[in-house]
Amino acid sequence: MSPISQLEKTIEEMVDDHRGILAADESLPTMEKRFKPIGVESTEETRRAWRSLLVTTPGLGEYISGIILFEETLDQKTDEGVPIPEAAARQGIVPGVKVDKGKGPLSGAPGDLVTRGLDGLGERLRTYMEQGARFAKWREVYPVTRHNPTLLGRKANAEVLARYAAVCQELGVVPIVEPEVLMDGDHDIDRCAEVTEQVLHEVFHALHLHKVRFEYMLLKPNMVLPGKECRRAEPEEVAEATLRVLKRVVPAAVPSINFLSGGQGPEEATANLNAINQARGNAPWQLSISYGRALQQPALHAWMGKPENREAAQQALLKRARLNSLARRGGYSSSLESGS
Ligand code: 13P
Repeated sequence: MSPISQLEKTIEEMVDDHRGILAADESLPTMEKRFKPIGVESTEETRRAWRSLLVTTPGLGEYISGIILFEETLDQKTDEGVPIPEAAARQGIVPGVKVDKGKGPLSGAPGDLVTRGLDGLGERLRTYMEQGARFAKWREVYPVTRHNPTLLGRKANAEVLARYAAVCQELGVVPIVEPEVLMDGDHDIDRCAEVTEQVLHEVFHALHLHKVRFEYMLLKPNMVLPGKECRRAEPEEVAEATLRVLKRVVPAAVPSINFLSGGQGPEEATANLNAINQARGNAPWQLSISYGRALQQPALHAWMGKPENREAAQQALLKRARLNSLARRGGYSSSLESGS
């Protein structure tokens, strides 16, 4: 199959009007952070057990169309001995992989960060494709201060995202482009809106320069939210600010926008998605999720690393996936939280 046909097929399978993406691609240090509160040591085996549990959740494919895996997971098997990417595919869930190599300081732009991993990306992608991955994810992060992100920071990060996306598309791998404006800090929602608009504007400019086809990519942005140390915003306010920014800068050719949860609580992230879809008006893209924490957290706490809690954890994951699917149609209400 030609790269273009592969891209078309993957987008067709991943994008619809009711499902979202599960981000299960935590790096080794992040996984340690997630396991610590439940008293589980992060080892190759505990990470395998956790991700096997997620991907074999009965019925998950009804609400989830793609799963982002960590490199290590591509090579691991479920408890039943099925390669994890194949187990996802059997549920109708397209397997993908995180390909960035983590962030570090950006020289010349104090306070800004940039992500590594472009060297050898093509070769790595070929291996991941052989292991079953059909899409990729790359995340750039933008801390917010009075001075950050700087113009240099925005330009350098956009360039990296565009180069990554171009390499992916050349090989027939759908790129998820993730520019994340962080929630850390005491900035208000207007400052987040200003930064998110500047960041996305620069990202799409670079994607255009690098001849990335918008039809065959997914955007994974932050919602427009106040910083964690600022007052909380109501879902309607989040929806209004998020849609205003996206409508200004995201081309209509992009098929789907899949938000990250970025430190919002699970219920908060669902309520905000619901409000966004209720207020979407004539927005041209699907407005969906690519949540990590907001899908996994309740399931992690139900699991606690104990095999006997496996089913309860899967139920907790399925519940969040189902409620977010309702939120995609604007049909969620917090009263639904009390059911299973
Ligand atoms: P969160 O939804 O937990 O922010 O994770 C999404 C993700 O993939 C971050 O790169």
